[in-house]
Amino acid sequence: MAVSYKSLGLVNTIEMFKKAVKGGYAIPAYNFNNMEQIQAIIQACSETASPVILQVSSGARKYANQTLLQYMAQGAVEYAKELGKGKNVPITLHLDHGDTFDLCVSCVESGFSSVMIDGSHHPYDENVALTKKVVEYAHGYDVTVEGELGVLAGVEDDVKAEAHTYTQPDEVEDFVKKTGVDSLAISIGTSHGAYKFKPGQKAEIRLDILREIEKRIPGFPIVLHGSSSVPQDLIKKIDRFGGKMSDAIGISEAQLREAAKSAVCKINIDSDGRLAMTAAIREVLYTKPAEFDPRKYLGPARDSLKELYKHKNINVLGSAGHAFD
Ligand code: G3H
Ligand code: 13P
Ligand code: ZN
Repeated sequence: MAVSYKSLGLVNTIEMFKKAVKGGYAIPAYNFNNMEQIQAIIQACSETASPVILQVSSGARKYANQTLLQYMAQGAVEYAKELGKGKNVPITLHLDHGDTFDLCVSCVESGFSSVMIDGSHHPYDENVALTKKVVEYAHGYDVTVEGELGVLAGVEDDVKAEAHTYTQPDEVEDFVKKTGVDSLAISIGTSHGAYKFKPGQKAEIRLDILREIEKRIPGFPIVLHGSSSVPQDLIKKIDRFGGKMSDAIGISEAQLREAAKSAVCKINIDSDGRLAMTAAIREVLYTKPAEFDPRKYLGPARDSLKELYKHKNINVLGSAGHAFD
């Protein structure tokens, strides 16, 4: 049976983005697949009083089961209320990289308050048509829609692009007008995963393209995918405890902070959370080889994740303290 996000206590992104653009910060969009991740996200965002977007990819949806996800999101709201002594930080449940109209419909029907329709791999006109169709449907339920123009290098679910196709500033105004999207994901050199730059390569994103885009659609909410910073202390820890990730490089926190001060109002982070959990789990299993209670390694993984998210909210995205603006 269809359920509305409103009855789950979730919110769409309209107010969040308006305040974020005005306040010069970005809302964290953290991916989750399981209970420890959702606990860490809600704890971190409640403790830093940050609004938050919980993101679910189609892979996560398959992994976690649709019904469980719906109840986890509802549980997240109740948990945030408990931590906030009756008052919860605003929480959006968002579909990450939706690739079909039907998937977006299924998510809206199961309580998502926001969906991304990622038509960036299609030719421009097809992207416009698909995005517009999702917008017309989703807006009927007050669900917000994120579109994408430009292609990020790297892997998104099953689609792999070898190189970036930067968003063309000339196209954004037309795309936003024709589709009616509520926010726009752009490609300016970020990419998915832990290997965003090659060793020796200049690890910088194109803030100049961002500025050009902002000139064409002033104040319109912009989204950055692929924005993990790949903290080198986590990489070293993973390698120290038996891993092999020494070439992993991410986006500089300084550049993300710069972007968050502008119309970038949603920053997507998944890989950093995976690294934090992996490093903590590896440490326990390596240093205590007889340990076999999952709580003894998932607990430290959750704590490490929470600290990572708090750091991002406070020092990178600047969303801390803005939950009740
Ligand atoms: O954009 C990709 C996100 O990190 C989700 O990754 O498709 O492996 O769940 P996933
Ligand atoms: P990262 O792989 O950089 O964490 O990006 C996540 C993302 O963009 C999810 O949509
Ligand atoms: Zn993404």
